[in-house]
This record gives sequence, structure tokens and C-alpha cells, in this order.
Amino acid sequence: MRYNHSMNLLSAKNISHTFEYELFSDVSLELDARDSIAIIGASGSGKSTLLHIFSTLLKADKGSVSLLGEDTSSLKEKRLSQIKRESLGLVFQSHYLFKGFSAYENLEVAAILSEQSIEERLLDKLGIAACIKQKVTELSGGQQQRVSIARVLTKKPRIIFADEPTGNLDKKTASEVMHLFFEYIEANAAGMVLVTHDETLAFMCKKVYRLENKKLEMLK
Ligand SMILES: Nc1ncnc2c1ncn2[C@@H]1O[C@H](COP(=O)(O)OP(=O)(O)O)[C@@H](O)[C@H]1O
Ligand SMILES: [Mg+2]
Repeated sequence: MRYNHSMNLLSAKNISHTFEYELFSDVSLELDARDSIAIIGASGSGKSTLLHIFSTLLKADKGSVSLLGEDTSSLKEKRLSQIKRESLGLVFQSHYLFKGFSAYENLEVAAILSEQSIEERLLDKLGIAACIKQKVTELSGGQQQRVSIARVLTKKPRIIFADEPTGNLDKKTASEVMHLFFEYIEANAAGMVLVTHDETLAFMCKKVYRLENKKLEMLK
């Protein structure tokens, strides 16, 4: 499955969701292998909620989400957990690193759970090789963010869902991290859905959508 280069990774159809008010209705999105999709939109428009629905952390009021060609609503809990564990890489602000551990130990946990190895190259590329032995609590916000990205990529996910993954990074580092994501996607026939408020970063992606007036409007 990992080397099927043309397959559909995410197919979201006619998604609607309401919290206090209706956030969006009838939103559809397709992500194929090697696609990178950015979603921009005003604060509060529902970008994070949409990402939670795509990654099945949240069930939408209406619509369907397929991951790797499998309709998540008809999957057994066990298979859905397996897909989440093996194939989804979540870079969300709420996904904290283990604080009592060093950065490297955090990567080791990910590597062991996914039976993958830690790539030294990844650490160099992210500029965290020098601080990797330090405790998470000793790292800056930007360093922690890059360790989180290293941890997610160490899993070798097929789909990356990233919510403002470069929010704590300076422009240059953010752009380097974006290139790292693109390189990863190419090398692994993976795909990415990225939420960002930074239009420059968004337009580095293959496709760009704006979430506005409850709809996803294609900009690129
Ligand atoms: N779990 C929740 N319960 C109730 N309201 C929520 C919940 N999550 C988000 N919201 C509300 O939905 C709206 C959109 O939130 P969010 O998806 O985080 O937007 P964005 O990421 O575009 O800023 C906000 O008004 C927020 O308060
Ligand atoms: Mg958000």
C-alpha cells in the first residue's frame, strides 16, 4: 500500500458541522498521494475543526470521510485505530511531547511504536541535532515544534495533518520546514493537509483553499 503512488489518501464528502453556529456545510476535499493542500481562512472560521474531522478525531454532523480508500464510518474500531496509529501524522498544537523525556527519547518512542528508525538527516534538516539530548522542558517553543515534526515524520505516516505547524518558527526556518514536508511527501508518496494563516507558506503547497462563508473556495 505504501508504494501505491496514485492512490487517494483522503476523500471527504459533503461535510457539515455546527457548534454554537454552523461552521461549514457541504464541504468536500480530495487528497491524493503526493498532494499538498493548504487551508487558509479567518480565525474562528473552522479550520481546526475541519482538520479534526478529516483526521477522525471529531465526527462531523453530516458527510463522510474516507482514509486510504476506506470509509471511516463503516470501519471497525480496531481497523480505524490501526489506520490512525500507522498512517496518520498529526502535527497539532494539542499533541504535546512527553515533558519528562529528552527530545531524542520522544523520537525513540515514536520509532519503537511504528517500528521505524530515527533518521539523523531529519534532525540535521530540522536544525535540532544539537539540542536533541536535552529535556523537552529545556527547549524553546520553536525547538519543541521542530521536535514534534521530527516525531511525526519518524512514524512515516501516509497522511500528514498539520495545524499551524510553523507558528513558532521564524520565516526562514518555517520555509525550510515546508520544504522538508514536500521532500517527505515525494519520497513516501504521502500527502499533507496544512492549516496556516500565512499565505506565503500556503501558496508553497500544490493546492490552496480558503474556508470562508461556510465553504471551501479553491484559490490554487
Ligand atoms: N469543541 C468545541 N465545542 C464548541 N465550540 C467549538 C469547539 N471547537 C471549536 N469550537 C468553535 O468553533 C469555531 C471555530 O473554531 P476553530 O475550528 O478552532 O476555528 P479556526 O481554527 O479556523 O480558528 C469557534 O467559534 C470555536 O469557538
Ligand atoms: Mg485553529
